[in-house]
Amino acid sequence: MSSSGEAELLHTFKGIPFTTRSSPELLKSLDSFDAREDDVLLVSYPKSGTHWLAGVITKLYKTQVTITSPIEFGDISRLEELNKLSSKRIIPTHLDYNMLPPNFKNKKCKMIYISRNPKDTAVSMFHYYRDNPNLPTVDTWTAFFDLFLKGNVVCGSWFDHFLSWEEHEDEKNILFLFYEDMKKDLPKVVKKITLFLNLNVSDSDIQDICKKSSFSEMKNDSEKENSDPSHTVCALTSNRKLIFRKGAVGDWKNYFTPKQNIRFQEIFNEKMKLSKL
Ligand code: A3P
Repeated sequence: MSSSGEAELLHTFKGIPFTTRSSPELLKSLDSFDAREDDVLLVSYPKSGTHWLAGVITKLYKTQVTITSPIEFGDISRLEELNKLSSKRIIPTHLDYNMLPPNFKNKKCKMIYISRNPKDTAVSMFHYYRDNPNLPTVDTWTAFFDLFLKGNVVCGSWFDHFLSWEEHEDEKNILFLFYEDMKKDLPKVVKKITLFLNLNVSDSDIQDICKKSSFSEMKNDSEKENSDPSHTVCALTSNRKLIFRKGAVGDWKNYFTPKQNIRFQEIFNEKMKLSKL
């Protein structure tokens, strides 16, 4: 990572790196954010399948819903903008549980946490960093691998993020999903989502939504929408090609050396020793 790039593009808030597109004023004000009982949060560590999940969820509603950009993105005027939205809000966020505005917790808003094999997440994030001018420059996979393991990347440590949310996995208003389960049996996961959100969607509609949410369909759609940044859940690019890259499970095997794999596994085992994963 070039140090000048880092200085310009990232800042740290409560120990977690954010891009400068998340203003410190906004981050400081999140604690007073006014949640609504019917808000739905889509929570993820970056590159875990957020757009995929968002694409599915918006198709499940028959009433008008607005999918916003992540709550932590922008300047202080964001809060006012979100307040003004009259339709139901689906709000993505990469915040860890401890930084989430307390109002969402107090009002028991529904939250869906999507997670993905951190090895695939790391590879996906590497490409995202490499091709995104809004993020610091990384020259090689080896350099990025080290940054990822140290949590020295935007949104901090994958492990800390996952663990902060996993602690709340059993709360009734939180649904935990895995990218790999979506790949394996999307209709089953979508059914689970409809039950969680109390939405009445027929099995044939679910099948149809799943077809429209395949990687190729979403990638094609994104090419049509490419010029419109408001169509992106991701706050850091309007270039949808950066978001729909490969959509595969196990791509990490093409990047991790055997030595990196051992190192990753050791750190994973240590950090995740109290996790159910
Ligand atoms: P890859 O870079 O491994 O391809 P996020 O939306 O959280 O930024 O995650 C992006 C990752 O989800 C990318 O992974 C992207 O290709 C993948 N993805 C997006 N839509 C998908 C879909 N419909 N099916 C499978 N994977 C999808």
